[in-house]
Amino acid sequence: MLQSVLISKHIYGEAVAFLRESVRVDYHDSDEGLPARDLRQRLSGKAGLVCQLTDRVDAPLMDAAPGVKVISNVAVGFDNIDIPAATERGIMCTNTPGVLTNTTADLAFTLILAAGRRLGEAERYLRAGRYKQWRVDLLTGWDIWGATLGVFGMGRIGQAVARRASGFNMRVLYYDPFRQSERVERELGVEYVPKDELLVQSDFVTLHCALTPETRHLISTGELQLMKPTAVLVNSSRGPVVDEAALADALATGTIAAAGLDVYENEPHVHPQLLELENVVIVPHIASASIRTRTRMCMLAAENMLAGLAGRRPPNILNPEVLE
Ligand code: DGY
Repeated sequence: MLQSVLISKHIYGEAVAFLRESVRVDYHDSDEGLPARDLRQRLSGKAGLVCQLTDRVDAPLMDAAPGVKVISNVAVGFDNIDIPAATERGIMCTNTPGVLTNTTADLAFTLILAAGRRLGEAERYLRAGRYKQWRVDLLTGWDIWGATLGVFGMGRIGQAVARRASGFNMRVLYYDPFRQSERVERELGVEYVPKDELLVQSDFVTLHCALTPETRHLISTGELQLMKPTAVLVNSSRGPVVDEAALADALATGTIAAAGLDVYENEPHVHPQLLELENVVIVPHIASASIRTRTRMCMLAAENMLAGLAGRRPPNILNPEVLE
Protein backbone atom coordinates (compact mmCIF):
# COMPACT_ATOMS: atom_id res chain seq x y z
CA MET A 1 0.00 0.00 0.00
CA LEU A 2 1.20 3.52 -0.81
CA GLN A 3 2.42 5.58 2.12
CA SER A 4 0.57 8.81 2.90
CA VAL A 5 2.02 12.28 3.25
CA LEU A 6 0.39 15.42 4.60
CA ILE A 7 1.27 18.75 2.98
CA SER A 8 0.31 21.30 5.60
CA LYS A 9 -0.10 24.37 3.39
CA HIS A 10 0.01 25.55 -0.25
CA ILE A 11 3.22 24.74 -2.14
CA TYR A 12 4.17 24.90 -5.82
CA GLY A 13 2.22 22.41 -7.96
CA GLU A 14 5.30 20.69 -9.46
CA ALA A 15 6.25 19.41 -6.03
CA VAL A 16 2.75 18.13 -5.30
CA ALA A 17 2.65 16.31 -8.64
CA PHE A 18 6.10 14.84 -7.99
CA LEU A 19 5.00 13.52 -4.60
CA ARG A 20 1.80 12.09 -6.08
CA GLU A 21 3.86 9.89 -8.41
CA SER A 22 5.06 7.87 -5.40
CA VAL A 23 2.82 8.44 -2.37
CA ARG A 24 -0.76 9.27 -1.41
CA VAL A 25 -1.01 12.97 -0.71
CA ASP A 26 -3.35 14.70 1.72
CA TYR A 27 -2.93 18.30 0.55
CA HIS A 28 -4.13 21.23 2.60
CA ASP A 29 -4.01 23.55 -0.42
CA SER A 30 -4.50 26.79 1.44
CA ASP A 31 -2.41 29.84 2.30
CA GLU A 32 -3.66 29.55 5.86
CA GLY A 33 -1.78 26.98 7.89
CA LEU A 34 -3.71 24.34 9.79
CA PRO A 35 -4.50 25.17 13.42
CA ALA A 36 -2.54 22.89 15.81
CA ARG A 37 -5.52 20.63 16.54
CA ASP A 38 -6.36 20.11 12.85
CA LEU A 39 -2.71 19.49 12.04
CA ARG A 40 -2.61 16.76 14.72
CA GLN A 41 -5.78 15.15 13.36
CA ARG A 42 -4.73 15.27 9.70
CA LEU A 43 -1.24 13.96 10.44
CA SER A 44 -2.50 10.91 12.26
CA GLY A 45 -1.96 7.82 10.09
CA LYS A 46 0.56 9.57 7.82
CA ALA A 47 4.15 8.54 7.13
CA GLY A 48 5.39 12.02 6.34
CA LEU A 49 4.77 15.73 6.82
CA VAL A 50 5.77 18.46 4.38
CA CYS A 51 5.63 21.56 6.54
CA GLN A 52 6.58 25.23 6.55
CA LEU A 53 8.13 27.62 9.00
CA THR A 54 4.66 28.69 10.15
CA ASP A 55 3.94 25.14 11.42
CA ARG A 56 5.00 24.34 14.94
CA VAL A 57 6.22 20.77 14.85
CA ASP A 58 6.68 19.71 18.45
CA ALA A 59 6.69 16.54 20.56
CA PRO A 60 2.89 16.43 21.13
CA LEU A 61 2.35 16.62 17.35
CA MET A 62 4.85 13.82 16.77
CA ASP A 63 3.19 11.71 19.48
CA ALA A 64 -0.20 12.20 17.84
CA ALA A 65 1.17 10.64 14.64
CA PRO A 66 3.49 7.80 15.61
CA GLY A 67 3.65 6.55 12.00
CA VAL A 68 5.54 9.62 10.80
CA LYS A 69 9.02 8.78 9.51
CA VAL A 70 9.97 12.02 7.74
CA ILE A 71 9.35 15.70 8.49
CA SER A 72 10.35 17.80 5.51
CA ASN A 73 10.52 21.56 6.04
CA VAL A 74 10.15 23.89 3.05
CA ALA A 75 12.80 26.27 4.41
CA VAL A 76 16.46 26.26 5.30
CA GLY A 77 15.69 27.45 8.85
CA PHE A 78 14.19 24.76 11.05
CA ASP A 79 13.63 26.42 14.42
CA ASN A 80 9.93 25.56 14.01
CA ILE A 81 10.77 21.86 14.46
CA ASP A 82 11.82 20.25 17.72
CA ILE A 83 14.72 18.28 16.22
CA PRO A 84 15.81 16.56 19.46
CA ALA A 85 12.21 15.34 19.97
CA ALA A 86 12.14 14.00 16.41
CA THR A 87 15.52 12.30 16.85
CA GLU A 88 14.33 10.64 20.06
CA ARG A 89 11.41 9.23 18.10
CA GLY A 90 13.56 8.12 15.15
CA ILE A 91 11.95 10.66 12.78
CA MET A 92 14.12 12.06 9.97
CA CYS A 93 13.97 15.86 9.59
CA THR A 94 15.07 17.71 6.48
CA ASN A 95 15.39 21.29 5.22
CA THR A 96 16.11 23.06 1.91
CA PRO A 97 19.59 24.59 1.98
CA GLY A 98 21.60 25.71 -1.03
CA VAL A 99 18.81 26.42 -3.48
CA LEU A 100 17.92 29.69 -1.74
CA THR A 101 21.40 30.99 -0.94
CA ASN A 102 21.75 33.57 -3.71
CA THR A 103 18.14 34.71 -3.66
CA THR A 104 18.36 35.30 0.09
CA ALA A 105 21.71 37.08 -0.24
CA ASP A 106 20.20 39.29 -2.95
CA LEU A 107 17.48 40.39 -0.56
CA ALA A 108 19.91 40.98 2.29
CA PHE A 109 21.91 43.19 -0.02
CA THR A 110 18.75 44.91 -1.21
CA LEU A 111 17.99 45.78 2.41
CA ILE A 112 21.54 47.08 2.91
CA LEU A 113 21.08 49.37 -0.10
CA ALA A 114 17.50 50.33 0.68
CA ALA A 115 18.08 51.15 4.34
CA GLY A 116 21.41 52.89 3.68
CA ARG A 117 19.96 55.04 0.91
CA ARG A 118 16.59 55.61 2.64
CA LEU A 119 14.65 54.08 -0.21
CA GLY A 120 11.39 53.37 1.64
CA GLU A 121 11.30 56.84 3.10
CA ALA A 122 12.14 58.42 -0.27
CA GLU A 123 9.35 56.54 -2.02
CA ARG A 124 6.82 57.46 0.66
CA TYR A 125 7.97 61.09 0.38
CA LEU A 126 7.41 61.16 -3.35
CA ARG A 127 4.10 59.28 -3.29
CA ALA A 128 2.82 61.70 -0.65
CA GLY A 129 3.36 64.57 -3.13
CA ARG A 130 6.09 66.14 -0.99
CA TYR A 131 8.72 66.36 -3.76
CA LYS A 132 8.57 70.04 -4.65
CA GLN A 133 12.17 70.67 -5.68
CA TRP A 134 15.66 69.15 -5.67
CA ARG A 135 17.64 70.06 -2.56
CA VAL A 136 21.29 69.43 -1.81
CA ASP A 137 20.47 67.60 1.41
CA LEU A 138 17.21 65.96 0.36
CA LEU A 139 17.02 62.43 1.79
CA THR A 140 20.77 62.05 2.05
CA GLY A 141 21.86 58.67 3.37
CA TRP A 142 24.98 56.59 3.91
CA ASP A 143 27.33 55.31 1.21
CA ILE A 144 27.47 51.59 0.66
CA TRP A 145 30.45 51.80 -1.71
CA GLY A 146 33.65 51.59 0.32
CA ALA A 147 31.86 51.14 3.68
CA THR A 148 32.62 48.45 6.28
CA LEU A 149 30.20 45.54 6.36
CA GLY A 150 29.94 43.27 9.39
CA VAL A 151 28.53 39.81 8.68
CA PHE A 152 27.25 37.76 11.60
CA GLY A 153 27.30 34.13 10.51
CA MET A 154 29.62 33.13 7.66
CA GLY A 155 27.66 30.14 6.37
CA ARG A 156 26.43 29.81 2.79
CA ILE A 157 24.28 32.95 2.87
CA GLY A 158 26.80 35.07 4.79
CA GLN A 159 29.43 34.10 2.22
CA ALA A 160 27.12 34.98 -0.67
CA VAL A 161 26.54 38.42 0.90
CA ALA A 162 30.30 38.90 1.34
CA ARG A 163 30.80 38.14 -2.37
CA ARG A 164 28.28 40.81 -3.29
CA ALA A 165 30.01 43.27 -0.95
CA SER A 166 33.28 42.94 -2.83
CA GLY A 167 31.54 44.44 -5.88
CA PHE A 168 30.83 47.48 -3.72
CA ASN A 169 34.46 47.76 -2.60
CA MET A 170 33.40 47.10 1.00
CA ARG A 171 35.71 46.00 3.79
CA VAL A 172 34.06 42.87 5.15
CA LEU A 173 34.40 41.81 8.78
CA TYR A 174 32.75 38.68 10.07
CA TYR A 175 32.02 36.86 13.26
CA ASP A 176 30.93 33.25 13.55
CA PRO A 177 31.57 30.73 16.32
CA PHE A 178 33.18 28.60 13.58
CA ARG A 179 36.03 30.46 11.94
CA GLN A 180 36.54 29.80 8.22
CA SER A 181 39.86 28.52 6.92
CA GLU A 182 42.48 31.03 5.82
CA ARG A 183 41.90 29.94 2.24
CA VAL A 184 38.16 30.75 2.41
CA GLU A 185 38.84 34.04 4.19
CA ARG A 186 41.31 35.02 1.49
CA GLU A 187 39.03 33.94 -1.32
CA LEU A 188 36.12 35.94 0.13
CA GLY A 189 38.30 38.86 1.23
CA VAL A 190 36.88 38.80 4.78
CA GLU A 191 38.47 39.46 8.18
CA TYR A 192 37.53 37.53 11.31
CA VAL A 193 36.90 39.77 14.34
CA PRO A 194 35.33 39.29 17.79
CA LYS A 195 31.60 40.03 17.95
CA ASP A 196 31.96 43.37 19.79
CA GLU A 197 34.68 44.55 17.44
CA LEU A 198 32.39 43.84 14.49
CA LEU A 199 29.66 45.96 16.04
CA VAL A 200 32.00 48.85 16.85
CA GLN A 201 33.68 48.99 13.44
CA SER A 202 30.90 48.23 10.96
CA ASP A 203 28.86 50.77 8.99
CA PHE A 204 26.42 48.00 8.05
CA VAL A 205 25.74 44.88 10.12
CA THR A 206 23.92 41.99 8.48
CA LEU A 207 22.72 38.88 10.34
CA HIS A 208 22.98 35.39 8.83
CA CYS A 209 22.87 33.00 11.74
CA ALA A 210 20.36 30.30 12.62
CA LEU A 211 17.99 30.91 15.53
CA THR A 212 19.25 28.88 18.50
CA PRO A 213 19.13 29.49 22.26
CA GLU A 214 22.59 31.10 21.84
CA THR A 215 21.53 33.53 19.11
CA ARG A 216 18.16 34.57 20.59
CA HIS A 217 18.47 38.35 21.20
CA LEU A 218 22.02 38.29 19.92
CA ILE A 219 21.38 41.96 19.17
CA SER A 220 19.86 43.80 22.11
CA THR A 221 20.38 47.16 23.86
CA GLY A 222 24.03 46.57 24.78
CA GLU A 223 24.99 45.49 21.26
CA LEU A 224 23.08 48.37 19.64
CA GLN A 225 24.90 50.80 21.90
CA LEU A 226 28.23 49.50 20.62
CA MET A 227 27.26 50.34 17.04
CA LYS A 228 28.03 53.65 15.33
CA PRO A 229 25.22 56.24 15.39
CA THR A 230 25.47 56.15 11.58
CA ALA A 231 25.27 52.34 11.40
CA VAL A 232 22.59 50.31 9.65
CA LEU A 233 21.37 46.91 10.92
CA VAL A 234 19.93 44.34 8.50
CA ASN A 235 18.17 41.16 9.58
CA SER A 236 17.07 38.48 7.13
CA SER A 237 17.83 35.53 9.42
CA ARG A 238 15.18 34.99 12.08
CA GLY A 239 13.28 37.71 13.96
CA PRO A 240 14.12 36.65 17.53
CA VAL A 241 17.85 37.06 16.81
CA VAL A 242 17.11 40.77 17.39
CA ASP A 243 15.40 42.19 20.46
CA GLU A 244 12.77 44.07 18.48
CA ALA A 245 11.74 46.47 21.27
CA ALA A 246 15.39 47.38 21.86
CA LEU A 247 15.87 47.94 18.12
CA ALA A 248 12.78 50.14 17.84
CA ASP A 249 14.09 52.20 20.73
CA ALA A 250 17.58 52.45 19.19
CA LEU A 251 16.11 53.62 15.88
CA ALA A 252 13.81 56.14 17.54
CA THR A 253 16.54 57.66 19.72
CA GLY A 254 19.31 57.73 17.11
CA THR A 255 21.50 55.07 18.75
CA ILE A 256 21.81 53.67 15.21
CA ALA A 257 20.79 55.30 11.94
CA ALA A 258 18.58 52.79 10.18
CA ALA A 259 17.52 49.17 9.77
CA GLY A 260 16.33 46.82 7.07
CA LEU A 261 14.18 43.95 8.29
CA ASP A 262 12.74 40.88 6.60
CA VAL A 263 11.93 38.93 9.77
CA TYR A 264 10.23 39.71 13.09
CA GLU A 265 10.10 38.37 16.61
CA ASN A 266 6.44 37.35 16.52
CA GLU A 267 5.54 37.00 12.85
CA PRO A 268 3.35 38.17 11.30
CA HIS A 269 3.14 40.76 14.10
CA VAL A 270 5.60 43.65 13.80
CA HIS A 271 6.49 45.82 16.77
CA PRO A 272 4.10 48.81 16.39
CA GLN A 273 6.86 51.36 16.90
CA LEU A 274 8.78 49.97 13.92
CA LEU A 275 5.74 50.55 11.72
CA GLU A 276 5.80 54.22 12.66
CA LEU A 277 9.50 54.87 12.11
CA GLU A 278 10.81 56.35 8.86
CA ASN A 279 14.33 54.94 9.25
CA VAL A 280 13.43 51.28 8.87
CA VAL A 281 12.74 49.35 5.69
CA ILE A 282 10.38 46.49 6.50
CA VAL A 283 9.33 43.62 4.23
CA PRO A 284 7.32 40.46 5.04
CA HIS A 285 9.84 37.57 5.21
CA ILE A 286 10.49 37.46 1.47
CA ALA A 287 14.24 36.82 1.38
CA SER A 288 13.94 33.59 -0.63
CA ALA A 289 10.84 34.71 -2.52
CA SER A 290 11.69 34.40 -6.18
CA ILE A 291 9.45 32.08 -8.19
CA ARG A 292 12.39 29.91 -9.24
CA THR A 293 13.83 29.58 -5.76
CA ARG A 294 10.54 28.93 -4.01
CA THR A 295 9.75 26.27 -6.65
CA ARG A 296 13.15 24.68 -6.04
CA MET A 297 12.59 24.73 -2.29
CA CYS A 298 9.28 22.90 -2.71
CA MET A 299 10.86 20.37 -5.06
CA LEU A 300 13.76 19.78 -2.72
CA ALA A 301 11.36 19.25 0.18
CA ALA A 302 9.50 16.68 -1.94
CA GLU A 303 12.77 14.94 -2.90
CA ASN A 304 13.85 14.80 0.74
CA MET A 305 10.49 13.31 1.67
CA LEU A 306 10.52 10.62 -1.01
CA ALA A 307 14.11 9.62 -0.30
CA GLY A 308 13.37 9.20 3.41
CA LEU A 309 10.17 7.24 2.82
CA ALA A 310 11.96 4.97 0.33
CA GLY A 311 14.56 4.13 2.98
CA ARG A 312 17.27 6.19 1.32
CA ARG A 313 19.27 8.95 3.02
CA PRO A 314 17.49 12.26 2.31
CA PRO A 315 19.92 14.71 0.67
CA ASN A 316 19.34 17.31 3.37
CA ILE A 317 18.89 15.34 6.54
CA LEU A 318 19.25 17.42 9.72
CA ASN A 319 19.51 14.54 12.19
CA PRO A 320 21.54 11.82 10.44
CA GLU A 321 21.96 10.03 13.75
CA VAL A 322 18.47 8.52 13.28
CA LEU A 323 19.91 6.54 10.32
CA GLU A 324 22.61 4.88 12.44
C1 DGY B 1 14.10 29.89 5.21
O1 DGY B 1 14.21 29.13 4.25
O2 DGY B 1 14.44 29.57 6.36
C2 DGY B 1 13.56 31.25 4.96
O3 DGY B 1 13.41 32.00 6.09
C3 DGY B 1 12.29 31.15 4.16
O4 DGY B 1 12.77 31.21 2.91
